[in-house]
Amino acid sequence: MGMFSARTEWDFQPNTLTSLLAEKRLQGEEILDLTESNPTRCGFDYQPQYTLEALSTRRSLVYEPHPKGILSARSAVAEYYARQGIDVNPDYIILTAGTSEAYTFLLRLLCNGRDSVTLVKPGYPLLEYLCQMNDVVGRHVHLQYNQGWHLDLDALKVELAARAKAVALVHPNNPTGSAIRHYEREAIVGAAIGTGAALLVDEVFHPFQGDGTTPLAPSFASNRGCLTFTMNGISKLLGLPQFKLAWIVVSGPPAEVEVAVARLEMIGDLFLSVSTPIQQALPVLLQDPAGLTRQIKERVGKNRANLSAKSDKVSAVELIGEEGGWYAVLRLPRVRTDEEWAHLFLKDLNILVHPGCLFDFEDEAIVVVSLLQKEEIFQRAVEGVLSMVDV
Ligand SMILES: Cc1ncc(COP(=O)(O)O)c(C=O)c1O
Repeated sequence: MGMFSARTEWDFQPNTLTSLLAEKRLQGEEILDLTESNPTRCGFDYQPQYTLEALSTRRSLVYEPHPKGILSARSAVAEYYARQGIDVNPDYIILTAGTSEAYTFLLRLLCNGRDSVTLVKPGYPLLEYLCQMNDVVGRHVHLQYNQGWHLDLDALKVELAARAKAVALVHPNNPTGSAIRHYEREAIVGAAIGTGAALLVDEVFHPFQGDGTTPLAPSFASNRGCLTFTMNGISKLLGLPQFKLAWIVVSGPPAEVEVAVARLEMIGDLFLSVSTPIQQALPVLLQDPAGLTRQIKERVGKNRANLSAKSDKVSAVELIGEEGGWYAVLRLPRVRTDEEWAHLFLKDLNILVHPGCLFDFEDEAIVVVSLLQKEEIFQRAVEGVLSMVDV
């Protein structure tokens, strides 16, 4: 319809999996949901005496907007990095109402219409839409699995040299859980310096890396080699997506950082979207008095170990890459496509998984499961999936 923009010309038709799910829910059937990644539905102990009390300060009755976010909140973010040994100036932090808004601000800052940004696939499906919403062309480079996930650096360098204004990296990536390795970081930064591209690094899963056997990949907030925007927030770190608080740390060559921050401040001023109560609460919340990061880490760790032990016994299933994040990637026999497997699990077992195509896995029978689900449900669902594949 000519009335509406081309960028919102989406296909709203439900697919067979979502139709079947809606049907089953309508019939009141119990679904074992292995896609659950909403932390507020996963039985964590939010300890309202800490989590809600933090919001009740009288300072929140005063509106003193600051386009970058109020200083006490930005200082609390700087302290979060200081605890990791990274020196971040609060002046170079911009608060946003979630990471999606942060991406939008950055795409508006860096790109003109039809400019290109390099994305990684398999990856977080929302990025493609965020590019589209901001009239930016998202062009993909591959992450390949070969005893660990490896980024196609040659393709990335070609993209940067030919056109890309920026590369968006999710560190560790969703859903593969793979962090950018040291050698990859050096190569990417080197290529970005050579071409004048910027790095957009989404670190919402950074606190959830591996089982402790591999050294943690450092945050890009310490990167000074090229203009770098490191994003994080409390959606994953504290399991509080409904509080709508994220941030951007700007680092890089000082002259570029100054310009970027001044422009981001102007963009922030147009929206002033982060609420005062959450900003006032941030210094307390980032101390994590309810131990939320630990609770989530424990849950993810236990579910991962359980899945690993169970899938090891089923030769037809391969758990690929177990580095970090909230998801696990399972390679199933190619007698069916990923969508056919997902449909079968839901139809016959009432178990919901993500087909890999959602994350742009190609040519393989890959399904993705969330490791956040309550352990008891997770175990029952995993047993169901594995017993159906093991025939
Ligand atoms: C890679 C990645 N970034 C960002 C987000 C969402 O963050 P926010 O709630 O801050 O928009 C998600 C949520 O699933 C994610 O997977």
